[in-house]
Amino acid sequence: PSGIITIPVVVHVIYNHSGENLSDAQIQSQIDVLNEDFRRLNADADNLWGQAADAEIEFCLASRDPYGDATCGITRTQTDSIKFYSKFTMKSSATGGIDPWPYQDYLNIWVCDISGLLGFARFPEYSDPELYDGVVTDYLSFGRIGNLKEDFNLGRTTTHEVGHWLNLRHIWGDGDCFYDDFVSDTPVSDDHNYGCNPGHISCGSVDMVQNYMDYSDDVCMNLFTIGQKNRMRALFEPGGFRTSLLT
Ligand code: ARG
Ligand code: ZN
Ligand code: CA
Repeated sequence: PSGIITIPVVVHVIYNHSGENLSDAQIQSQIDVLNEDFRRLNADADNLWGQAADAEIEFCLASRDPYGDATCGITRTQTDSIKFYSKFTMKSSATGGIDPWPYQDYLNIWVCDISGLLGFARFPEYSDPELYDGVVTDYLSFGRIGNLKEDFNLGRTTTHEVGHWLNLRHIWGDGDCFYDDFVSDTPVSDDHNYGCNPGHISCGSVDMVQNYMDYSDDVCMNLFTIGQKNRMRALFEPGGFRTSLLT
């Protein structure tokens, strides 16, 4: 499709102690970050890479729940689980979490204590999407206000995870110089970059450490490329895996 794509989001807050029960304002700050980063309205956007793109994708907290009733797009569930060690348990009420809303209609984001990880996501082609599709972000790296982990306090973990959910691979292709991210305008790289590593060279070219799909600190990331935009938006073309979100 041409033009702006708007994705309805439900944020499932799962908390054991009150510090994990993030405020509505902190949740909204994450939605704001997504809207800035996927529209290239982020204040830290620079002109270093000419292929930086406005992906023309926006996010809004759902206003209708699966039954058609009014909602604020946030669910809150108290749990006995102090930490979630499995990638699945937060996604079911039978295991101390909460079931997803239909993946055909919503981006499900679970926010909980995932025991030291920042976040993880499901790619579009993964199995059993009705059970598992969506993004999980640790409560200490969600949004850009509140109690957040140093270096991961600008909401870019969820930007990165939503990139995966929209079919983006890590920029280094998860391998050496011969592994690809299936995007032609991102330079090959032999590994992830941590921290802030501008100008780092691998595989004979400068790494795009500023890309949201590297492992740089939040403050050092600021772009998706045109190629990544096209790969994400292909999911919304006829026959694409995420077209049902458009209606
Ligand atoms: N390690 C995580 C993943 O592979 C997320 C990395 C997010 N990085 C960040 N600067 N917030 O999905
Ligand atoms: Zn990743
Ligand atoms: Ca590439």
